[in-house]
Amino acid sequence: MQTYLKLNDGTEIPQFGLGVYQVPEGEMTYNAVLDALKMGVRHIDTAHAYQNERSVGRAVRASGVPRKEIWITSKLWPSEYSEGKTEKAIEKMLARLDTDYIDLLLLHQQFGDYIGAWKDMQKAVRAGKVRSIGISNFESERLEEICEFAEIKPSVLQVECHPYYPQNELKKRIAKYGTVIESWYPIGHGDKGLISEPLFTRLAEKYRKSNVQIILRWHIQEGNIVFPKTTNIQHMRDNFDIFDFELTAEEMAEIKKLDYHKRFYNMTLEQQEASLGSWQPAD
Ligand SMILES: NC(=O)c1ccc[n+]([C@@H]2O[C@H](COP(=O)([O-])OP(=O)(O)OC[C@H]3O[C@@H](n4cnc5c(N)ncnc54)[C@H](OP(=O)(O)O)[C@@H]3O)[C@@H](O)[C@H]2O)c1
Repeated sequence: MQTYLKLNDGTEIPQFGLGVYQVPEGEMTYNAVLDALKMGVRHIDTAHAYQNERSVGRAVRASGVPRKEIWITSKLWPSEYSEGKTEKAIEKMLARLDTDYIDLLLLHQQFGDYIGAWKDMQKAVRAGKVRSIGISNFESERLEEICEFAEIKPSVLQVECHPYYPQNELKKRIAKYGTVIESWYPIGHGDKGLISEPLFTRLAEKYRKSNVQIILRWHIQEGNIVFPKTTNIQHMRDNFDIFDFELTAEEMAEIKKLDYHKRFYNMTLEQQEASLGSWQPAD
């Protein structure tokens, strides 16, 4: 049975989902989301920047699964931040997703007028257009700035997180706000070195699972929310098939020793801001 986590605002999020970063708009996204929903996955992680929200919305409709059983997360881009502007951006997002409400809306990046955006996101929660709000990629002191400012505290913080970079320090910083980690690059963006780590091979043999399933199971037991990306149906089935076994406390402790402080996405705050440049997603 898949697990749900209660967030700091009382909503219950499916702990496992499908991520659709870098999945092209159109049939690829539509089919991946539909396949996931058919196999029982109830959580989709998209973003305006991924430019595939329309296909997510189409697949949700076509699935026949009641809307209230599906958790849809999307993210606002910095070009959409500031009071008034964010309110309009949320309306456009609702139209692209073809839905009456968004389950979880995130600030995608820690740049621009994120405080102004947060004000509108709080209004959207009060208006019933968004159920839960959170942040992504806030790892600088801007994390505390927004958390202290917020009347509705961020329910989640979505960041790079996997056994080589388990975000233990960040977890301590967000604990007082009741915020939980959502892991991006949960299997290192498919990194072969991480996946073929001998410890995972040993545990995979023990549990008759794959190395990727061991990593994903670790995320679940760590209390992370996780949504690996895949468009391969066998990978999708395998990734979701992690709720029938449990790693022991000793095995979790062994995995903890793999914290090499190794990121797969390495950029300083300045480099990140420069890399975003003036790019903005099309409506
Ligand atoms: N907020 C942010 O800034 C941010 C940044 C990055 C990602 N994200 C979110 O996090 C999600 C996951 O991150 P990600 O897609 O970059 O990385 P990931 O989920 O760690 O890795 C995806 C890669 O792993 C492969 N894969 C998936 N399942 C597999 C399996 N069972 N066996 C072997 N290979 C497998 C996929 O290829 P196949 O398709 O061939 O299976 C793909 O190449 C994204 O889709 C997005 O929703 C958010």
